Amino acid sequence: MKFFIDTANLKEIEDARSLGILDGVTTNPSLISKESVSNKEEIKDHYISICNLLKDEENLSAEIISNNYEEMIQEGEKLSILHPRIVVKVPMTYNGIKAIKYFSSKNIRTNCTLIFSTGQALVAAKVGADYISPFIGRIDDVSYDGLNLIKEIKKIYDSYHFKTKILGASIRHSLHIIECSKIGIHAITSPIKIIHSLIYHPLTNIGLEKFLTDYKRKIK
Ligand code: G3P
Repeated sequence: MKFFIDTANLKEIEDARSLGILDGVTTNPSLISKESVSNKEEIKDHYISICNLLKDEENLSAEIISNNYEEMIQEGEKLSILHPRIVVKVPMTYNGIKAIKYFSSKNIRTNCTLIFSTGQALVAAKVGADYISPFIGRIDDVSYDGLNLIKEIKKIYDSYHFKTKILGASIRHSLHIIECSKIGIHAITSPIKIIHSLIYHPLTNIGLEKFLTDYKRKIK
Protein backbone atom coordinates (compact mmCIF):
# COMPACT_ATOMS: atom_id res chain seq x y z
CA MET A 1 0.00 0.00 0.00
CA LYS A 2 1.26 3.46 -0.92
CA PHE A 3 1.75 6.07 1.82
CA PHE A 4 0.85 9.60 0.79
CA ILE A 5 1.39 12.41 3.29
CA ASP A 6 -1.58 14.74 3.77
CA THR A 7 0.22 18.05 4.20
CA ALA A 8 1.51 21.15 2.43
CA ASN A 9 4.39 21.47 4.91
CA LEU A 10 7.83 20.99 3.35
CA LYS A 11 9.46 19.84 6.62
CA GLU A 12 6.85 17.12 7.09
CA ILE A 13 7.43 15.92 3.51
CA GLU A 14 11.20 15.87 4.13
CA ASP A 15 10.55 13.92 7.35
CA ALA A 16 8.53 11.33 5.40
CA ARG A 17 11.32 11.16 2.81
CA SER A 18 14.02 10.60 5.44
CA LEU A 19 11.87 7.90 7.07
CA GLY A 20 11.73 6.16 3.69
CA ILE A 21 7.96 5.88 3.43
CA LEU A 22 7.04 8.71 1.06
CA ASP A 23 4.97 7.72 -2.00
CA GLY A 24 3.26 11.06 -2.66
CA VAL A 25 1.63 14.14 -1.18
CA THR A 26 -1.95 15.38 -1.00
CA THR A 27 -2.97 18.91 -0.13
CA ASN A 28 -6.23 20.78 0.19
CA PRO A 29 -7.07 24.49 0.58
CA SER A 30 -7.15 24.21 4.40
CA LEU A 31 -3.67 22.64 4.47
CA ILE A 32 -2.30 25.27 2.04
CA SER A 33 -3.71 28.05 4.25
CA LYS A 34 -1.52 26.81 7.15
CA GLU A 35 1.68 27.54 5.20
CA SER A 36 3.43 30.89 4.67
CA VAL A 37 1.67 31.74 1.39
CA SER A 38 -0.52 34.78 0.90
CA ASN A 39 -1.33 34.93 -2.83
CA LYS A 40 -1.81 32.66 -5.85
CA GLU A 41 1.75 33.15 -7.13
CA GLU A 42 3.18 32.05 -3.78
CA ILE A 43 0.88 29.02 -3.79
CA LYS A 44 2.17 28.05 -7.27
CA ASP A 45 5.78 28.40 -6.05
CA HIS A 46 4.90 26.33 -3.00
CA TYR A 47 3.46 23.54 -5.18
CA ILE A 48 6.66 23.59 -7.27
CA SER A 49 8.76 23.36 -4.08
CA ILE A 50 6.75 20.30 -3.01
CA CYS A 51 7.12 18.70 -6.46
CA ASN A 52 10.87 19.26 -6.32
CA LEU A 53 10.99 17.06 -3.20
CA LEU A 54 9.31 14.19 -5.06
CA LYS A 55 10.84 11.55 -7.33
CA ASP A 56 10.05 8.47 -9.45
CA GLU A 57 6.27 7.83 -9.60
CA GLU A 58 5.44 10.15 -6.68
CA ASN A 59 2.87 12.87 -7.27
CA LEU A 60 1.23 15.86 -5.62
CA SER A 61 -2.55 16.36 -5.49
CA ALA A 62 -3.23 20.12 -5.80
CA GLU A 63 -6.85 21.15 -5.37
CA ILE A 64 -8.80 23.57 -7.56
CA ILE A 65 -10.91 26.12 -5.70
CA SER A 66 -13.44 27.10 -8.41
CA ASN A 67 -17.03 25.82 -8.53
CA ASN A 68 -17.87 27.13 -11.98
CA TYR A 69 -17.19 24.57 -14.77
CA GLU A 70 -15.23 26.88 -17.12
CA GLU A 71 -13.12 28.21 -14.24
CA MET A 72 -12.48 24.66 -13.00
CA ILE A 73 -11.14 23.72 -16.43
CA GLN A 74 -8.90 26.79 -16.63
CA GLU A 75 -7.61 26.30 -13.10
CA GLY A 76 -6.98 22.57 -13.58
CA GLU A 77 -5.17 23.09 -16.89
CA LYS A 78 -2.92 25.72 -15.32
CA LEU A 79 -2.13 23.40 -12.40
CA SER A 80 -1.40 20.49 -14.74
CA ILE A 81 1.22 22.48 -16.69
CA LEU A 82 2.78 23.92 -13.53
CA HIS A 83 4.64 20.64 -12.92
CA PRO A 84 4.34 17.13 -14.44
CA ARG A 85 3.96 15.60 -10.97
CA ILE A 86 0.75 17.51 -10.25
CA VAL A 87 -2.52 15.58 -10.08
CA VAL A 88 -5.51 17.95 -10.23
CA LYS A 89 -7.70 17.48 -7.16
CA VAL A 90 -11.35 18.11 -8.05
CA PRO A 91 -14.27 18.27 -5.56
CA MET A 92 -17.08 15.73 -6.03
CA THR A 93 -19.74 18.08 -7.40
CA TYR A 94 -21.88 18.10 -10.56
CA ASN A 95 -19.42 20.48 -12.26
CA GLY A 96 -16.51 18.60 -10.73
CA ILE A 97 -17.62 15.39 -12.46
CA LYS A 98 -17.91 17.18 -15.81
CA ALA A 99 -14.45 18.65 -15.25
CA ILE A 100 -12.96 15.21 -14.44
CA LYS A 101 -14.46 13.84 -17.67
CA TYR A 102 -12.85 16.70 -19.59
CA PHE A 103 -9.47 16.31 -17.85
CA SER A 104 -9.56 12.56 -18.47
CA SER A 105 -10.05 13.19 -22.23
CA LYS A 106 -6.96 15.45 -22.15
CA ASN A 107 -4.86 12.93 -20.19
CA ILE A 108 -4.72 15.28 -17.20
CA ARG A 109 -4.61 13.18 -14.03
CA THR A 110 -7.28 13.81 -11.38
CA ASN A 111 -8.05 13.01 -7.76
CA CYS A 112 -11.77 13.31 -7.00
CA THR A 113 -12.02 14.54 -3.41
CA LEU A 114 -14.74 14.83 -0.75
CA ILE A 115 -16.11 11.34 -1.45
CA PHE A 116 -18.65 10.24 1.18
CA SER A 117 -20.72 7.57 -0.62
CA THR A 118 -20.45 4.58 -2.93
CA GLY A 119 -22.59 6.41 -5.51
CA GLN A 120 -20.09 9.27 -5.65
CA ALA A 121 -17.23 6.77 -5.99
CA LEU A 122 -19.03 4.97 -8.83
CA VAL A 123 -19.65 8.17 -10.81
CA ALA A 124 -16.06 9.38 -10.31
CA ALA A 125 -14.75 6.07 -11.68
CA LYS A 126 -17.19 6.18 -14.63
CA VAL A 127 -15.80 9.56 -15.76
CA GLY A 128 -12.20 8.37 -15.43
CA ALA A 129 -10.83 9.84 -12.19
CA ASP A 130 -7.32 8.49 -11.57
CA TYR A 131 -7.83 8.61 -7.79
CA ILE A 132 -10.74 9.06 -5.43
CA SER A 133 -10.38 10.32 -1.86
CA PRO A 134 -13.05 8.91 0.48
CA PHE A 135 -12.95 10.78 3.83
CA ILE A 136 -12.87 8.00 6.43
CA GLY A 137 -12.48 10.12 9.59
CA ARG A 138 -15.15 12.66 8.67
CA ILE A 139 -17.64 9.80 8.11
CA ASP A 140 -16.75 8.36 11.54
CA ASP A 141 -17.24 11.88 12.99
CA VAL A 142 -20.94 11.76 12.07
CA SER A 143 -21.36 8.24 13.55
CA TYR A 144 -21.19 6.26 10.30
CA ASP A 145 -18.51 3.71 9.43
CA GLY A 146 -15.81 5.24 7.21
CA LEU A 147 -13.96 1.95 6.76
CA ASN A 148 -17.14 0.19 5.63
CA LEU A 149 -17.38 2.74 2.80
CA ILE A 150 -13.82 1.83 1.78
CA LYS A 151 -14.76 -1.89 1.72
CA GLU A 152 -17.84 -1.23 -0.42
CA ILE A 153 -16.01 0.96 -2.93
CA LYS A 154 -13.22 -1.63 -3.23
CA LYS A 155 -15.81 -4.34 -3.95
CA ILE A 156 -17.50 -2.24 -6.66
CA TYR A 157 -14.22 -1.23 -8.31
CA ASP A 158 -12.93 -4.82 -8.29
CA SER A 159 -16.21 -6.12 -9.81
CA TYR A 160 -15.92 -3.80 -12.81
CA HIS A 161 -12.11 -3.53 -13.05
CA PHE A 162 -12.21 0.26 -12.75
CA LYS A 163 -8.71 1.73 -13.06
CA THR A 164 -9.51 4.46 -10.47
CA LYS A 165 -7.28 4.11 -7.41
CA ILE A 166 -8.72 4.39 -3.89
CA LEU A 167 -6.75 6.86 -1.77
CA GLY A 168 -8.12 6.55 1.79
CA ALA A 169 -8.20 10.10 3.23
CA SER A 170 -9.15 11.85 6.46
CA ILE A 171 -7.08 9.34 8.41
CA ARG A 172 -7.35 9.94 12.17
CA HIS A 173 -5.42 7.08 13.80
CA SER A 174 -3.16 4.13 13.01
CA LEU A 175 -6.02 1.58 12.92
CA HIS A 176 -7.49 3.43 9.93
CA ILE A 177 -4.23 2.72 8.07
CA ILE A 178 -4.05 -0.92 9.19
CA GLU A 179 -7.66 -1.62 8.21
CA CYS A 180 -7.16 0.07 4.82
CA SER A 181 -4.16 -2.19 4.20
CA LYS A 182 -6.31 -5.25 5.06
CA ILE A 183 -8.99 -4.13 2.63
CA GLY A 184 -6.26 -3.84 0.01
CA ILE A 185 -6.73 -0.34 -1.35
CA HIS A 186 -4.02 1.33 -3.42
CA ALA A 187 -3.05 4.05 -0.91
CA ILE A 188 -3.82 6.09 2.16
CA THR A 189 -3.02 9.74 2.73
CA SER A 190 -2.22 10.55 6.33
CA PRO A 191 -0.76 13.24 8.57
CA ILE A 192 2.89 12.32 9.26
CA LYS A 193 2.26 12.02 13.03
CA ILE A 194 -0.09 9.07 12.44
CA ILE A 195 2.58 7.36 10.32
CA HIS A 196 4.94 7.87 13.29
CA SER A 197 2.41 6.20 15.59
CA LEU A 198 2.67 3.00 13.49
CA ILE A 199 6.29 2.69 14.55
CA TYR A 200 5.92 2.82 18.33
CA HIS A 201 4.83 0.02 20.66
CA PRO A 202 5.32 0.04 24.48
CA LEU A 203 6.48 -3.61 24.50
CA THR A 204 9.20 -2.73 21.96
CA ASN A 205 10.49 -0.01 24.32
CA ILE A 206 10.34 -2.30 27.39
CA GLY A 207 12.00 -5.13 25.45
CA LEU A 208 14.80 -2.91 24.17
CA GLU A 209 15.46 -1.46 27.63
CA LYS A 210 15.80 -5.00 29.09
CA PHE A 211 18.12 -6.16 26.30
CA LEU A 212 20.42 -3.18 26.87
CA THR A 213 20.32 -3.47 30.69
CA ASP A 214 21.20 -7.20 30.53
CA TYR A 215 24.03 -6.51 28.08
CA LYS A 216 25.54 -3.64 30.11
CA ARG A 217 25.32 -5.67 33.35
CA LYS A 218 27.56 -8.42 31.91
CA ILE A 219 29.60 -6.97 29.05
CA LYS A 220 32.42 -4.56 29.90
O1 G3P B 1 -6.98 16.04 2.35
C1 G3P B 1 -8.26 15.54 2.56
C2 G3P B 1 -8.47 14.84 3.89
O2 G3P B 1 -7.43 13.94 4.13
C3 G3P B 1 -8.77 15.75 5.04
O3 G3P B 1 -8.67 15.12 6.28
O4 G3P B 1 -8.50 15.25 8.75
O5 G3P B 1 -9.29 17.26 7.47
O6 G3P B 1 -10.75 15.25 7.70
P1 G3P B 1 -9.33 15.74 7.61
